[in-house]
Amino acid sequence: MSLPSFGRSLASGMTGPAVGVSMRDESREEQMGRVAWMRDWKQSRNRLRWLTISGLIVLSGTAIGQTAGPQAALPHLEKRGNATQLIVDRKPFLILGAEVHNSSSSSVEYMEAVWPHLQAMHMNTVVLPVAWETIEPDEGKFNFQCVDGLLKGARAHNLKIVFLWFGAWKNTYSSYAPAWVKTNTDRFPRVQLSDGRDTERLSPFSVAVREADQRAFAALMDHLREADGEAHTVLFMQVENEVGVIPEARDHSSVANTAFEAPVPQALMSYLEKHRTTLAPELSAAWEAAGAKASGTWQQVFGKTPLTDDLFMAWQYATYIEHIAAAGKEKYPLPMYANAALIRPNYEPGQYNSGGPLPHSADVWRAGAPSLDFLSPDIYFNEFAQWSSSYSRPGNPLFIPESQGGATGAANSLYAFGRLSAIGFSPFGVDDAGNAPLDLVGITNPAERPDNDAIAAIYAELSRLSPLILEKQSSGGITAGLMEGDAQRAARVPLGDFTANITRAGGGAGTRVAAMFLQTGPNEFLVVGVGDAQITFSSDRPGPPIVGIVSIDEEYYENGAWVPRRRLNGDENSQGQALRLYASDPSQGRIYQVRLYRY
Ligand code: DGJ
Repeated sequence: MSLPSFGRSLASGMTGPAVGVSMRDESREEQMGRVAWMRDWKQSRNRLRWLTISGLIVLSGTAIGQTAGPQAALPHLEKRGNATQLIVDRKPFLILGAEVHNSSSSSVEYMEAVWPHLQAMHMNTVVLPVAWETIEPDEGKFNFQCVDGLLKGARAHNLKIVFLWFGAWKNTYSSYAPAWVKTNTDRFPRVQLSDGRDTERLSPFSVAVREADQRAFAALMDHLREADGEAHTVLFMQVENEVGVIPEARDHSSVANTAFEAPVPQALMSYLEKHRTTLAPELSAAWEAAGAKASGTWQQVFGKTPLTDDLFMAWQYATYIEHIAAAGKEKYPLPMYANAALIRPNYEPGQYNSGGPLPHSADVWRAGAPSLDFLSPDIYFNEFAQWSSSYSRPGNPLFIPESQGGATGAANSLYAFGRLSAIGFSPFGVDDAGNAPLDLVGITNPAERPDNDAIAAIYAELSRLSPLILEKQSSGGITAGLMEGDAQRAARVPLGDFTANITRAGGGAGTRVAAMFLQTGPNEFLVVGVGDAQITFSSDRPGPPIVGIVSIDEEYYENGAWVPRRRLNGDENSQGQALRLYASDPSQGRIYQVRLYRY
């Protein structure tokens, strides 16, 4: 799998921020992974069966740009035209997902009632925690009963899985570590505060912690290869969860202090030199302001600021996670990623998770964790376009493992898939009526919890449109507009030769509105919306100045195809001047076919 960097340029002229490819050193990783995979597989009891399958794949030929060899059969990322896509069983796959609450997947029995609920919401993937304490309750004694039950349940409900490895860390804490780890603080030391107190966070500087975590994760991946190497229920793996330190900006244990006073590792310095022109602005500014030195301690290279503490911790978490991910991939080379808790406005390192995989430290993570395929944001804040775009970069395809649900999430999903060619979207906590955490989005009244019907409705539409969305993400001809917040009064979306101008229609100031456009001909678009909106069309391209509407048809999905019903005109399209979207469109399963002309 060799995935060079690229910027997005839609053939049709529809534009969006750049998207990218795997953050790994692909060719080296590829080779290492394949060698390890072959070695392990040769030892496997299933060797004969595997050789038969791979033989069939070779005989049936390999699609252009597809990975050859054993990994071709595994879920993997692949550059296809304009986008990097997730390939499952040799076909692109769009993750219409959701994450369950943190404790749900610790019980197969509990999940029994959850599976049908997820399926009824038109999801194709569930994002599920696997806890270290569950699979290794006693040191060296692994129990995969729960994992197997989850695989079985997902398969029975036609769902794929993204597993979250709650190993040494979950939301900075180490609460999912097994008792034999938690209770032995001599062997498994903690992150310390500047006053010398321990925290309930295992130290990322501890080799003992890392090796124990790594053994457990490798055992999990080994088991998944055995249990799922053919079925491909598991798409990829999140390694740890929302790492970083709080409430201080860095670990103050003596081993951390020594590392902080030591030179910045050469591997990071070389990366900075090599990528000097493309570094994240905050990182670049800190380095340049401190004199762009080629070596020195952390504070000499990046300055005496809290950001330096953050970068120092980022390197430590990234290199720790590199060990875990690489060991896992040696057993079973699925794609892997790390997720970030984002930064509240004006928060300092230590107020937010210092050292997490955030946009300003993405370069440090790339340099430190080449086995990770991408970094992901958990987006609960309302500035969805800004946060999602900052993770949709060359070398980093967008997957959003956690987000708000409800109508907000539904609108955001259109922007993620349509504008940023996301490989997947996943609201959090959909296994009950709620969608935690409300405080992050300023909701204090539990009665105002977002309901998940909106997600179910948009996923129903998206699942029907998935083949077209995937095709357009790759070939060009897909985009989306999003309106969020009081300050935004309109959205302007380039659509090939045209521009869509979106304004709110009812719904009130600040209401979230989104529209996805799929180009089906030079002057034709399918439009999928969330929220009440009015859309007019214009053009700034050479030619006749005015854009008119030839026709608007509402379409419904019936017997496997989109079929037109009403031709919308007169009052229904503002006397031929605009397309009107209704908040009820997704629940009614309605999309629009729009044909334009110029005069
Ligand atoms: C972010 C974490 O990653 C999730 O596991 C969960 O704890 C949510 N926050 C909030 O409930």
